[in-house]
Amino acid sequence: MLTWSDEEVEVEKISVMPAVAEKPVVGLESYVAPISETAIDRNGTRVRVDDKAMINCRADVNQLLPLKYKWAWEKYLSGCNNHWMPTEVSMQADIALWKSPNGLTPDERRAIKRNLGFFAASESLVANNIVLAIYRHLTNPECRQYLLRQAFEEAVHTHTFQYIVESLGLNEGELFNMYREVPSITEKAAWAMKYTQSLADAAFSTGTAVKDRDFLRDLIAFYVVFEGMWFYTGFAQILSLGRRNKMVGIAEQYQYILRDESIHLNFGIDVINQIKAENPGLWSSEFQDEVSGMLRSAAELEAAYGRDTMPNGFLGLSAVLCEQYMHFIANRRCAQIGLAPVFAKTENPFPWMSEAMDLKKEKNFFETRVIEYQTGGSLGWD
Ligand SMILES: [Fe+2]
Ligand SMILES: [Fe+2]
Repeated sequence: MLTWSDEEVEVEKISVMPAVAEKPVVGLESYVAPISETAIDRNGTRVRVDDKAMINCRADVNQLLPLKYKWAWEKYLSGCNNHWMPTEVSMQADIALWKSPNGLTPDERRAIKRNLGFFAASESLVANNIVLAIYRHLTNPECRQYLLRQAFEEAVHTHTFQYIVESLGLNEGELFNMYREVPSITEKAAWAMKYTQSLADAAFSTGTAVKDRDFLRDLIAFYVVFEGMWFYTGFAQILSLGRRNKMVGIAEQYQYILRDESIHLNFGIDVINQIKAENPGLWSSEFQDEVSGMLRSAAELEAAYGRDTMPNGFLGLSAVLCEQYMHFIANRRCAQIGLAPVFAKTENPFPWMSEAMDLKKEKNFFETRVIEYQTGGSLGWD
């Protein structure tokens, strides 16, 4: 997998014609979609690689080749190589444990149910944001190719929660309504949805600094915060159970989801940094302050979610440790998008999680998983 630092070199090599300088200045009123989305331009010229741009591009969006954003194409290939379906994972051990009166403590049951409740609706929120808000405004076919793959993966993730509910015989109404009925989950869903709402409006379009920044803000809210921060407490909760041989089917599914989400996050980071590189005026110091504030408030919401789901802690996890973990993750996300840390430097309280998540090891993690998936092997826990 390419890292952003690889991409900086790549962009430098291929950006013979800077997209920003040649991009026409377009006001919201005068914006028109690329002609290739609405009609065939019979007199149009062939697309040159330098005609492509991340946003506000008028070049034909139906011509994947020549590739400009190779990192997006490579992530599409990685996603395809990681294909999995939740129904391929056995739920027998989970069903037996869940139905056994003493198999799990009340604290573990509470955390599992709220965890599933958060993810069940979140996967749909992310999918809706991709389809209704992001896809239209990312104006190059390489990124759209990846978004199509990501949208399918989010559908697979939603399928996972349907499969878990069905397997364990959980109350589907209770689980799928938690994002509206459990305040600590509602607060997070509401925080995220406000970033989608304006972009999902059919009248919204990028093309001015204000609107371009609205789009960038949505990308940061969903890729960096939602998928890049908030999912990680949930992964820690379930993977911690799996390491103790509890709910191993769900834990295996979460590990596949984590593998997918790691690519989603890295795609989002690359998209954000590429848009910044092509439109440096958007990344003003005021906007950077705003983004830092977003990450700080998102970590606070996650701390509240941790206190709600783990009032007494379990299996070495506690709300306090999860808050520390969120500070560690938030600082790391800041570094990935070029911001100063928003919290005091802190150690990762869950070093066992970094085994699966450390970016340096991520490639090995994927390769291992792909091979095991293709040979039908099951996940191991160390
Ligand atoms: Fe997902
Ligand atoms: Fe995702």
